[in-house]
Amino acid sequence: MKRFHTALLATLLAPLLLAGCEKPPMDSTQTGFRGTAMGAVQNPRIVGPVEAAQKLPDPVPAIPSPPVSPLSRDVFKNVQVLGDLPAGEFTRTMLAITAWVAPQEGCAYCHKAGDELSADTLYTKVVARKMIAMTRHINTDWKQHVAASGDAGAGGVTCYTCHRGQPVPARIWFTAPAPRQTGGSTADSNGQNRPAVAAGLTSLGIDPLSPYLLGNERIRAAATTALPVNAPISIQQTEKTFGLMMHMSQSLGVNCTYCHNTRSHAEWAESPPTRTTAFHGINMARDLNVAYMLPLTQVFPANRLGPTGDVAKVSCATCHQGLFKPLKGAPLLKDHPALGAPVAAASDTTSVPSTAVAKVATRPATQR
Ligand code: HEC
Ligand code: HEC
Ligand code: HEC
Ligand code: HEC
Repeated sequence: MKRFHTALLATLLAPLLLAGCEKPPMDSTQTGFRGTAMGAVQNPRIVGPVEAAQKLPDPVPAIPSPPVSPLSRDVFKNVQVLGDLPAGEFTRTMLAITAWVAPQEGCAYCHKAGDELSADTLYTKVVARKMIAMTRHINTDWKQHVAASGDAGAGGVTCYTCHRGQPVPARIWFTAPAPRQTGGSTADSNGQNRPAVAAGLTSLGIDPLSPYLLGNERIRAAATTALPVNAPISIQQTEKTFGLMMHMSQSLGVNCTYCHNTRSHAEWAESPPTRTTAFHGINMARDLNVAYMLPLTQVFPANRLGPTGDVAKVSCATCHQGLFKPLKGAPLLKDHPALGAPVAAASDTTSVPSTAVAKVATRPATQR
């Protein structure tokens, strides 16, 4: 009798519970190999607003120039990176970066009004020069990532990929300060059990990005031996790995199955090609942070630095901003080959004049 009542209750409750579930017309794409059922389900309610927010910049028309145009390095006084461009294309590139990075502020955001255009007075110009070199480096040396699809003309990045019409990109990150110790010497939480925004508010450690997108720690969770021998994988390492994976999924607006066959997360042979592209993405983000962002630390004024005095850094979200192809895969670079040219060895170590170096407030280590 009792069992009957329970069954009746369950039958009556089931439609009620199901009524609370969402049944929009979901889109599903097959991401894995045939037979693995690795479908990616996209909910238009969530994806819709993200896609609607992707605005493309207005095209910058070409500047008519004579058939034999002088190079900008022969016309202007202080061009260290873009010297290989015809003068007309150089000016067009200036117009473009103004529209992509500082449309409100205009040329004056990097060129102090009243000064010569060749002067490096403002820190923003010094940063911008490094950024031009960085963008060329991304487009020429990280094709495995930014042109992974191999579609002719597709892929590549411009300043707009990250900046979207703002001087400070919307999705940057700083190293999180270590949480304050609450008790005696045993109370150091080592940053564990703290929700991090970068890891989708999971409690997988306070700083899921520094170990991988700045440092080069091993991204491992699965043991390769039955017993813990040699360097076994620790719980902390596993938590941090999952923290990074949460960040990657969130930045791209995808689920784990976009890159893994969850039968075995570690197995490369069973993972779709997107995982390989992501692998290059991790190495690229680290390279950009170490080779381009860190050297700019002294150039930025204190109000642009993070809570531990560190420079703003690039993550997957800086370019992707919620979609697995930034700006739905719009071919931005196609119309600006100037940003796809190789970086000349000398120009990559662009000088940082002392006048442009902002004073950096140094913090006592105890404040961390
Ligand atoms: C986001 C920063 C930024 C903005 C905005 C900007 N520039 Fe520049 N400009 C630079 C950088 C960086 C260089 C040096 C490039 C190099 O070293 O290859 C430069 C160099 C120049 C030069 C060469 C000067 C010389 O003699 O060395 C001219 C001319 C110039 N810009 C014009 C403009 C004009 C006109 C605008 C507005 C339409 C503008 N720029 C907006 C960053 C900027
Ligand atoms: C991969 C992403 C990325 C790309 C591509 C990129 N930037 Fe940046 N940019 C950043 C980050 C991160 C910062 C640091 C944010 C800050 O200023 O606090 C930054 C800062 C700047 C600043 C300083 C703004 C300020 O007010 O402090 C300028 C100027 C700038 N970028 C110009 C450019 C130009 C010009 C290009 C294209 C040639 C470019 N960026 C391409 C990520 C990018
Ligand atoms: C955009 C692609 C991508 C997404 C999405 C993604 N991963 Fe990963 N994952 C990778 C890559 C690439 C590696 C290997 C990194 C390396 O070895 O340097 C990896 C490694 C791992 C590992 C470590 C495997 C080992 O060797 O021990 C685990 C566990 C893992 N991912 C779980 C997840 C989970 C859980 C999710 C969803 C929350 C997820 N991943 C989402 C790309 C992705
Ligand atoms: C400098 C900007 C930039 C950064 C930073 C970046 N990506 Fe990408 N990513 C791109 C571009 C551009 C494409 C599109 C390539 C194409 O269309 O061929 C792309 C494509 C991908 C793809 C393939 C999508 C597909 O369906 O083919 C994956 C997966 C991916 N990125 C993962 C990541 C991960 C994970 C990170 C951070 C560890 C990251 N990306 C950081 C610019 C970036």
